[in-house]
Amino acid sequence: MTHMFVKQDVRTKLFTFQPSQCIMGRLDGKVIVMSAAAQGIGRAAAIAFAKEGAQVTATDINGEKLKELESYSGIKTKVVDVSKREQVEALAKEMDHIDVLFNVAGFVHHGSILDCEEKDWDFTMNLNVRSMYLMIKAFLPKMLARKSGNIINMASVASSIKGVPNRCVYSTSKAAVIGLTKSVAADFIDQGIRCNCVCPGTVDTPSLRDRIQARPDPEQALKDFLARQKTGRMCTAEEVAHLCVYLASDESAYVTGTEHIIDGGWRL
Ligand SMILES: NC(=O)c1ccc[n+]([C@@H]2O[C@H](COP(=O)([O-])OP(=O)(O)OC[C@H]3O[C@@H](n4cnc5c(N)ncnc54)[C@H](O)[C@@H]3O)[C@@H](O)[C@H]2O)c1
Repeated sequence: MTHMFVKQDVRTKLFTFQPSQCIMGRLDGKVIVMSAAAQGIGRAAAIAFAKEGAQVTATDINGEKLKELESYSGIKTKVVDVSKREQVEALAKEMDHIDVLFNVAGFVHHGSILDCEEKDWDFTMNLNVRSMYLMIKAFLPKMLARKSGNIINMASVASSIKGVPNRCVYSTSKAAVIGLTKSVAADFIDQGIRCNCVCPGTVDTPSLRDRIQARPDPEQALKDFLARQKTGRMCTAEEVAHLCVYLASDESAYVTGTEHIIDGGWRL
């Protein structure tokens, strides 16, 4: 009997199911390098990737929190500041090959353009955009050598997708991430590389809690955050991680140059 299931073709990245895959992890054998893994979305994604069989190099500047991930099989950790070119290049040098690069690091500055000093602008653009430029530049040649690679960048719905009050430089930086994503996807699509970005709405992470605490009236700030959620609740880091697993896997082999919105309908 001819089976409906056909094999995955590595060259064309055609992906279809095979019966044996039912018992495999969705990311079995994939080598993943990622930033900002110590907490929040990055941490949840590192754990989700490892649970699906990936070998994850989880990096962050917070070495102490990063260590917590070492108890998960499949995850090794390394302190790397992704805004520093030498550290990014040293990390790339250590890796023989890489299947998936996940750029997560980002910072939220609160305020309109009038509240945004030049130092805020430079800090945000440096961490949110330039770090991704550095990481992609360092790792892409390794992917091109094997004519296979998958890059995922963390953007946000606050960007070219939705105008959000008091997120001037943040939204600018995340719109740039979307542009960077499409540019890399377009330039290297014929060399086996794909590049996508993730655009979450409001995700309940430690830094979001810190931002709420930093407001003059934290109780009201929390109410305001919740009021703008059409689902009545914030997104969890694990929910974003599920989307990231899909994008990191061959299930999304036909998906590139796209922004993936996970915002509970916030932009509607
Ligand atoms: N939380 C949200 O509501 C939300 C929504 C949309 C997009 N995002 C984006 O998701 C990403 C993660 O956000 P989060 O809230 O989950 O994380 P977070 O802000 O809680 O944690 C960020 C992590 O980045 C690390 N980091 C900071 N500077 C770094 C550097 N120079 N090099 C390496 N690591 C560094 C920190 O140590 C920390 O562990 C960010 O890019 C953020 O903009 C978050």
